[in-house]
Amino acid sequence: MKVSADVRALIERRKEGHSLEAPFYLSEEIFALDMEAIFRQHWIQVAIEPDVPEPGDYVTVELGSDSILIVRDDDMQVRAFHNVCRHRGARLCNEDKGTVGNIVCPYHSWTYNLNGDLMFAEHMGEKFDRCKHSLKSVHVENLAGLIFVCAAEKAPDFSAIRAAMEPYLLPHDLPNTKIAAQIDIIEKGNWKLTMENNRECYHCVANHPELTISLYEYGFGYQRSPANADGMDAFAETCIKRGKEWAEIGLPSAEIDQLLDTTGFRTQRLPLDRSGESQTLDAKVASKKLLGGFEQADLGGLSFWTQPNSWHHFMSDHIVTFSVIPLSAGETLVRTKWLVHKDAVEGVDYDVKNLTAVWNATNDQDRALVEFSQRGASSSAYEPGPYSPFTEGLVEKFTAWYVGRLADKIGA
Ligand code: FES
Ligand code: FE
Repeated sequence: MKVSADVRALIERRKEGHSLEAPFYLSEEIFALDMEAIFRQHWIQVAIEPDVPEPGDYVTVELGSDSILIVRDDDMQVRAFHNVCRHRGARLCNEDKGTVGNIVCPYHSWTYNLNGDLMFAEHMGEKFDRCKHSLKSVHVENLAGLIFVCAAEKAPDFSAIRAAMEPYLLPHDLPNTKIAAQIDIIEKGNWKLTMENNRECYHCVANHPELTISLYEYGFGYQRSPANADGMDAFAETCIKRGKEWAEIGLPSAEIDQLLDTTGFRTQRLPLDRSGESQTLDAKVASKKLLGGFEQADLGGLSFWTQPNSWHHFMSDHIVTFSVIPLSAGETLVRTKWLVHKDAVEGVDYDVKNLTAVWNATNDQDRALVEFSQRGASSSAYEPGPYSPFTEGLVEKFTAWYVGRLADKIGA
């Protein structure tokens, strides 16, 4: 891929352990490169099974100039296609979400079934071969109900992340949940600032009074230092004790932090503070109907972070999923979904305000932090600053992954 000498130089001189130079957050050229080298080449978490519970249910997601259509077929498989008609290219489904029998182009009514095969195309003559005009498919993986797509011709390996993560995720039975709430916010900041902010909890104590009721900051890649030794040691002991209890009921909790064939992810089941049940204002479950076959509420929080664009918290009673979609160099969509057991009844088993209170507040606080960072990066005085070796190791992992992928793409 062709990039300017300036961009190549920026990628080649990236200083390890430091935030990125300003053009990474501001430049349109780098934004276009991000969409091509990152969002078109890697596994992007864009949806969840409960978005498309029945055959014909679809969602659309915009990844740069590509629109991806995610649809459930008649055999209950989740499929992904480019949302582009094979006649003259009209966008097929023009809503964020909906239900169709077949996929019918609004322009000249070419009609595709849910497998993407072209079924009807009037006035095309006898020589026209319908079989050569199926929808273009997009790689899709359904990991325990989390839907990932990859629009590259050849997708990176997914088998390792699947093998590692299924034992952690499957007990929470995401496919049998429903979306109790969804909130889309648009942050006025570059997507990498959203991700960098997500990969550390250095800022949590000062900014997240609601989140830190239940969450221990130490679980976020902290390294032991003289300043935090007491807290870290106590936390490590709690992790071991709770980890043993969870292992007895078949729930793995050990940290996995891996980069396999460019697919980077991290997971750990972390104890929660106080009653230890859920990420709520009183750390107790927000939904009385527990997920899967769970019989106890204090299962801590299973966190799952993926490069480049998602993180998720799985608890005994609910799941919160976050998907980050860049909109422009300075604008980013953060899509949050709160999932409860599909049979849980609103007003009886859960209250949406209580369910969403912590992350609604936290998202808004994080939005402000990202926007402060974006404004700071626009200043002539901005220069890359050092990440803390004790609290920002995971930010460096994200940034190094990102720059590494750009370097691969341009052959730097
Ligand atoms: Fe879709 Fe013509 S562009 S039917
Ligand atoms: Fe935060």
